[in-house]
Amino acid sequence: MKAQLDSLLEEARKALAGAVTMDDVEALRVSLLGKKGSLSALLKGVSEMPAAERPTFGKVVNQAKGVLETLLEESAARAKARVDAEMLSVSIDVTEPGRHYRRGHVHPIRETTEVILEVFGQLGYRQAHGPEIEHEYYNFEALNVPKHHPARDMQDTFYLTEDVVLRTHTSPTQIRTMLDVKRPPIKAVMPGAVYRSDSDATHSPMFHQIEGLYVDEEVSLADLKGTLLAFARKLFGSEMRVRLRPSFFPFTEPSCEVDISCVTCMGSGRGEGESGICRVCKGSTWLEVGGAGLVHPNVFKAVGYDPEKVTGFAFGLGVERIAMLRHKIPDLRLFFENDVRFLRQF
Ligand code: PHE
Repeated sequence: MKAQLDSLLEEARKALAGAVTMDDVEALRVSLLGKKGSLSALLKGVSEMPAAERPTFGKVVNQAKGVLETLLEESAARAKARVDAEMLSVSIDVTEPGRHYRRGHVHPIRETTEVILEVFGQLGYRQAHGPEIEHEYYNFEALNVPKHHPARDMQDTFYLTEDVVLRTHTSPTQIRTMLDVKRPPIKAVMPGAVYRSDSDATHSPMFHQIEGLYVDEEVSLADLKGTLLAFARKLFGSEMRVRLRPSFFPFTEPSCEVDISCVTCMGSGRGEGESGICRVCKGSTWLEVGGAGLVHPNVFKAVGYDPEKVTGFAFGLGVERIAMLRHKIPDLRLFFENDVRFLRQF
């Protein structure tokens, strides 16, 4: 019996040393100390022993049971420590830098458009919108550009059908707005994409304009200039000046190009390079930002307004041009390449 007990202890030691998980240890506990376990089986033999040997044997078995319990506890502790270590190795390391997701943001053309609309909003201009696919009637005819008139060649038009075009400017939205409103006064700004068959460093086949229209009684060229000056100063600072240069558009009379002081040299014409001349305005001190004029009587007639009673001014600003000046961007094409290295700078 004693020998059996010794070999049981020996086997238990080996088995417990190999126990890895809490489940392994628990299974061994059951097989060693459980009701149907090895120790119980040994104890059953006691009844066949001579009575005199029983107490000594009982003592030995109890000792063995104590040893087994200690061994089980030790194994259980080892298994638990292993589980804890595993948990630590998979748990979150709060000192690890997080994964960084870049937030998207508004495109510089959109942002510039919004800033311009905001400035005119403060001057009392509401917003209006028109379609980019436009009937030639709105794009040309109602704007005093009859069919086969040479003025149509001023803008290289994308024709979709014989009389449907991609709008070459935002001016057709003037017509739509006046037809909508029916009765002046009107004060509206009309932003949007326009299209011309043209492409180089300063021309893109798609670009953006903001049209402005003010129709009321006795609107003058002075009102136009005052409005453009207020706009330029809000956008670029109080030192800005505005110059209206005589020009031609079929839908305005008189017509002009709108220049503002060069934002790089602030109108001095001087630059830092070897030449000493400002790179941006080439020393002229002025930069062109759009076209404008007083609404032509024929345009009023086309929308059913009486040109004897109402007058108005209109202007068209180039958004890309203004965005380039605001952010000192040298090439127009950068806006449309969608290179995130460029776009992330804004
Ligand atoms: N539509 C003209 C252009 O795109 C600009 C303009 C608008 C001129 C309004 C006068 C009045 O060139």
